[in-house]
Amino acid sequence: MNTTLLTAGPETLASGSPADPLGTSVAQARSAHLEELIREDPGRFRVLTGDRPTGRLHLGHYFGTLHNRVRLQDLGVEMFVLVADYQVLTDRDVADDLTGHVEELVLDHLAIGVDPARSTVFTHSAVPALNQLLLPFLSLVSVAELNRNPTVKDEIAHSRQSAVSGLTFTYPAHQAADILFCKANLVPVGQDQLPHLEITRTIARRFNDRYGNGTAVFPQPDALLSSAPLLLGTDGTKMSKSRNNAITLAAGADETARLIKGAKTDSERHITYDPVTRPEVSSLLLLAALCQERTPEEVASGIGSAGAAALKATVTEAVNEYLAPIRARRSEYAQDRAYLHQILREGNERARAIADATLAEVRTAMNSHY
Ligand code: TRP
Repeated sequence: MNTTLLTAGPETLASGSPADPLGTSVAQARSAHLEELIREDPGRFRVLTGDRPTGRLHLGHYFGTLHNRVRLQDLGVEMFVLVADYQVLTDRDVADDLTGHVEELVLDHLAIGVDPARSTVFTHSAVPALNQLLLPFLSLVSVAELNRNPTVKDEIAHSRQSAVSGLTFTYPAHQAADILFCKANLVPVGQDQLPHLEITRTIARRFNDRYGNGTAVFPQPDALLSSAPLLLGTDGTKMSKSRNNAITLAAGADETARLIKGAKTDSERHITYDPVTRPEVSSLLLLAALCQERTPEEVASGIGSAGAAALKATVTEAVNEYLAPIRARRSEYAQDRAYLHQILREGNERARAIADATLAEVRTAMNSHY
């Protein structure tokens, strides 16, 4: 794998402009180009992606990111899936059932088709050398830069914590360590994560400039923006675990039927796809369409004037049919907790070997080999 291949060039991701503060349009154009490169030669990419273990994943996660992970893996891209068990500490004050959440996250990945023989699933806390990168990385960003990060600002504004912790403030630099420890050159993200990726790129560039002696120790990874549309939850707002409006991958068929039955719609009997004026109905159509690989318009015309009840019946059937094999695999793996832990042990071991090698390189570059 050539990690420096994508680090330079005029189309490199730029910082946002006032009209496009996250730099989304540049990242979108870049992503389309990257998709071509992936199809041509998947072997030149290493992907790092991850989630905070906060519980079971839902359909919003699935069509937003999870589906894309399996797609990349199956295209032949090497993949690292991080269970961000340190970053999750930014979310809460209280000790939670972390082990349980980690297990659920691994289960969800196995169920959707992440293959531990091809992809490395690992946790932050088991990879000391990854975490050690945080120190030199923090020296390369200013407090003002951390302070400006719009994603962190937003998280602080919506935080359930009583005070902003130092970890919350600095986690974008930690996320740079997540990505750079394995020299990933591709990070599939939603647009809310673009500012973090920009910090990662800045850290990589500054490290190389300051310590690289003319060589690039770290690649400047690219964001791969997913084109996945936003799914709404059953109450018509963004699908999210904390809003209690989500359909999880693990939910049973009956529970799914009940949740969809209670979903918000509108009083117009004729079903049409119009995301602007009919967001709730359109999101349900979109969900059925994603499950059936049809367009939402096609789903809508199949329902016509049969009303919301018919729409919900269609969506329920589509979701349950689509998720049936995923759910079957999930319950099979759920029987065997020892296997889940074995997957993590093996992934952690692999991640540790890579992190140790990177840290050794960093020490050499920084002249701190004693
Ligand atoms: N910040 C991501 C989230 O909140 C999780 C995450 C941690 C991550 N480290 C990462 C994502 C590195 C991509 C790359 O979901």
